[in-house]
Amino acid sequence: MLYDNHGRPLEYVRVAVTDRCNLRCFYCMPEEGINYVPRQALLSYEELERVVRVLASLGVRKVRLTGGEPFVRRGLLPFIERLSSIAGIDNIGLTTNGVLTAPHVPELVRLGVRSVNLSLDTLDRERFLRITRRDELPRVLETFQALLAAGIRVKINAVVMDGQNIEDLVPLAELTRELPVEVRFIEEMPFNGGSHATPALLPWNHVRIREHLAAHFGQLLPQNSAPGATATSYLVPGHAGRLGIIAAYSRTFCGTCNRIRLTAEGGLRTCLYDQGVLDVRALLRGGASDAELRAALANAFRYRAANGFEAEQHRPVHQISFESMSTIGG
Ligand code: GTP
Ligand code: 5AD
Ligand code: SF4
Repeated sequence: MLYDNHGRPLEYVRVAVTDRCNLRCFYCMPEEGINYVPRQALLSYEELERVVRVLASLGVRKVRLTGGEPFVRRGLLPFIERLSSIAGIDNIGLTTNGVLTAPHVPELVRLGVRSVNLSLDTLDRERFLRITRRDELPRVLETFQALLAAGIRVKINAVVMDGQNIEDLVPLAELTRELPVEVRFIEEMPFNGGSHATPALLPWNHVRIREHLAAHFGQLLPQNSAPGATATSYLVPGHAGRLGIIAAYSRTFCGTCNRIRLTAEGGLRTCLYDQGVLDVRALLRGGASDAELRAALANAFRYRAANGFEAEQHRPVHQISFESMSTIGG
């Protein structure tokens, strides 16, 4: 197991396989999209596989493929197959918007993907169109059904947005009554690619979300969560699934943070809020050997910020953020 300079185990890498997306969620990017990374600047699947192999040799166990939307990049499934054969990698997860995912579900099962996080902020077609600027709710719901039918564990990620989807919180949470899913409500973070200014005070923080749910469901029983988990999970007595709240913005997970990120352009981030601490692409394309790559990565883990979130608090967050979650990989 690999530990950073603050004694935190690093076992989880989030890999943004693309920054492109077929939706335009307004909390992530503007209508016109973002300045996409040119194709040749994206790490190839071979390069990504090599980096993950080296990370696995350092102790990383879990890979989550994100984006952008991972399924807009061609060749994703053969890539997952290759990742699954890397010694030491025992957990491959996907975070997807579900628009293109349904037809691939049987193959995901075959490849041993046991859990998928599905981004879904509303069950209402009109509001889905308003939030994502695309009329794709039916295909997302098809993916949801296909995943459940295949026995893949589903977590729904819903970003909570003042004036956009508050009326959806209870209907989404109601899914847990009959279905064995976890529905997680996420505080909006200021990574919207310049789509809009972030308010200085978050109107819907985790406390308000919890109170809103409790007003409808009554008792929410807090559940133990794994170390480093983003969500606080709750059980509503009698429900088949669980509720979760991700205080992504108003609380810090830094103390137990177990993850690093590879951005779409091949940068290593050891914190969501850093600006990239190692240009992995330059190393790879400059001819670094596996040993050199391994040493550079291990070195970057010796300089991790103790609390990147706190530093972020000193930034004037009400300004417009030109970074998009789509490039960072969530
Ligand atoms: P699991 O592996 O299922 O626990 O998924 P996850 O919650 O780690 O990842 P997912 O891609 O589903 O992301 C859910 C939300 O958590 C997104 O809004 C992410 O941006 C956010 N998130 C993930 N990692 C971090 C982090 O290190 N810090 C903060 N503040 N938010 C994060
Ligand atoms: N704030 C919070 N969550 C976000 N996501 C994308 N942009 C933001 C944001 N600005 C979520 C997506 C997806 C996950 C990877 O990150 O909904 O589920
Ligand atoms: Fe695409 Fe996800 Fe960003 Fe929405 S949040 S535009 S689905 S990358």
